[in-house]
Order: sequence, then C-alpha cells, then structure tokens
Amino acid sequence: MRPLTATIDLAALRHNLEVVRRCAPQARVMAVVKANAYGHGLERTCAALTTADGFAVLGLNEALTLRALGWAKSILLLEGVFDTAELIAAAEHDVAVVVHNDRQVEMLANVELPRPIWVFLKMNSGMNRLGFAPPDYKAIALRLQALDKVANITLMTHFATADETTGIATQMQVFDAASAGLDYPRSLANSAAVLRHAESHADWVRPGIMLYGASPCVDVSAAAFGLRPAMTLRSEIIAVQHLTPGQGVGYGLQFVADKPIKVGVVACGYADGYPRHAPTGTPVAVNGQLTRALGRVSMDMLCVDLTDLPQADVGSAVELWGAQIPVDDVAHAAGTVGYELLCAVAPRVPVEVIE
Ligand SMILES: Cc1ncc(COP(=O)(O)O)c(C=O)c1O
Repeated sequence: MRPLTATIDLAALRHNLEVVRRCAPQARVMAVVKANAYGHGLERTCAALTTADGFAVLGLNEALTLRALGWAKSILLLEGVFDTAELIAAAEHDVAVVVHNDRQVEMLANVELPRPIWVFLKMNSGMNRLGFAPPDYKAIALRLQALDKVANITLMTHFATADETTGIATQMQVFDAASAGLDYPRSLANSAAVLRHAESHADWVRPGIMLYGASPCVDVSAAAFGLRPAMTLRSEIIAVQHLTPGQGVGYGLQFVADKPIKVGVVACGYADGYPRHAPTGTPVAVNGQLTRALGRVSMDMLCVDLTDLPQADVGSAVELWGAQIPVDDVAHAAGTVGYELLCAVAPRVPVEVIE
C-alpha cells in the first residue's frame, strides 16, 4: 500500500482542550469542529472531546450527525439556518443557531417551531463579515426576546485581529457599548483570543485551531502555547535520484543542482493536500532529521534533499508535518496558514487513529 498516512492523536486533542480550560477556566467551551473538525474527522474528534460543553459546526447536516451519534450537549450552527425547514429541524433537535441577518430574524418571527430555540445573536463589531450593525443590535435583541419561539439569547461577535498586534480592544469597545444593558451570556473568543485576551473569555469560548495543535498566531508557535499537534502526515521515500551539477528535478526543473545532490522522492503530492506552492526549502523530516523540499510539488509526489542523509533510502520515514515539523512552518513556507493545510488533507489519504 502507498505509505502515506495521516495519524490523528486523540490524546493530543484532549490535551489541547485542557489547554483551553486552563486559559479560560470560567468559560464554557464550544469546540469548533466545522470542516470535518479541521480535517481531523468530525466523529472521532467529537468522541475525543466529549468533555467540551458544546460543538460548533457549519451545516445542519453536521449537527444532525452529532445528535445521531448521541451527543446530547449544546450544538451551534455558526452561520445559522438558510431556510425555514432548517430552522424547524434545528429546533426539533435542540440545535442553537447564530442569527446574523434580517432574513433570519424574519424567519424566526414567522415560523412555527416544535420548541423554542437558542439564539446566538451576532454583532458586526468591526470584522465586517457577519452580524448586525452595532446601532441596530439592541433593538433586535429586544425583538427576539419578545418572541416566545426564542428560548435563550447569547450575545456573540467574532474578532478580525485577535491573532495580530492590533488585538481586540476596538472591537471589544464596540461590542460592550452596543450591548450595554443587555443581560445575556456572551461568546466572543476564538483560539487567539482564548490564548491572548483573557478579557474576552466571557461565558462561552469558541476555540478551533488550537484544539488541533496548530497556532492561530504567526508570531508564536503552537508548542510555545503548550499545544500538541493532533495530526501527523507521514510517508516514505519511494525513489532516490542523484543529480550532478546543472541537473534539475521535477516539473519545470525549478530546482537545479549546483553541486552533487541526492534527491528523495516522497509519496505525497498536492492531490493528497500537500500545498503545491511549498517552495524549495520548505521543511520536511526524513528519518527524524530536518531537511528541505526541492523543486515543484507534483500531484502525487514531492522531492526532498537527502544530500546530508547518507543512510536515507527507499523506505525511509518522512514526516510532512506533525510533532517535528509544525504544520504552521509548512504553511508559512507555502504562503498560507495551518488551518488551510489541515482542512485540505484529501479523502484519499488513509487515516490512522492513536489514543
Ligand atoms: C464564528 C467563529 N468562531 C470561532 C471560530 C474558531 O476560530 P479559530 O479556529 O481561529 O479558533 C471560527 C473559525 O473560523 C468562527 O468562524
């Protein structure tokens, strides 16, 4: 069998949830498991994180999957519902919904629900993506409060720059001012705010990326935050080539040897989710030793430098990312973020689960 595997470490997921608890001991944790738990597998991730207080997902189908699996605690739909049928199904299955636009408010006002529903009322406090404008927010909260279909309201916003030096102060001010006097629980913090901005923790935190052991911040590594990678992408060398000076390797012969170079060909390419934009120099580990990718990543293979690894040969172990090669470092080299790489691991990659 092709030697590429993604190993999911359930103990690391549990450890990272403990880091969330340590950072935000007063808050309840709505673990963000959208996008197939950031590529880690919804079912297995949720089974590992049963001590979370709730799970946040994107689509109703994910919420219903979790209910079918027996998850009885909170579930939140992060974009809310898209039609009345979804709203009725969400209420029926006790799934909370984000309400972020007028259409969703009207849907709620006009629907007959099997039972009252929990609403996360989202404010656009400055990210300018989803949510009500601050001047309108209070009136909408009061309108929802008056509907007997609304069981509970939680006030919510999302930060644009919690991971950057800009921080969250401006958005916090906007949120606090526009929600002053509304006596409801609050939910503001993503991973970066959990890790860096205790003043935002409030009643429900919504960590995603930190649960998977990657860093939300470009300037601080996951390890420095005490996080452990939940996914390791491993493969093996399947061929070895020896370049003489002037010879190139891979499509476009983008890497050209300026001295004798020993090249290892790794069974992993962009069709597996490895970023095609990873340039020469992207870190890779072979037999536990740090080396670099060479030339262009192709669909099923990529090349690595084995010049200083005389023992390396066909069958040598390769870590593309994991404990030795942080996914954030590969992402950085490829001009993206760990989030994208984790979510993009292809369905064709076999998954192995370890406790
Ligand atoms: C509304 C909302 N809350 C929380 C999160 C989790 O963010 P992170 O993965 O950065 O912790 C996301 C992720 O995109 C989100 O959209």
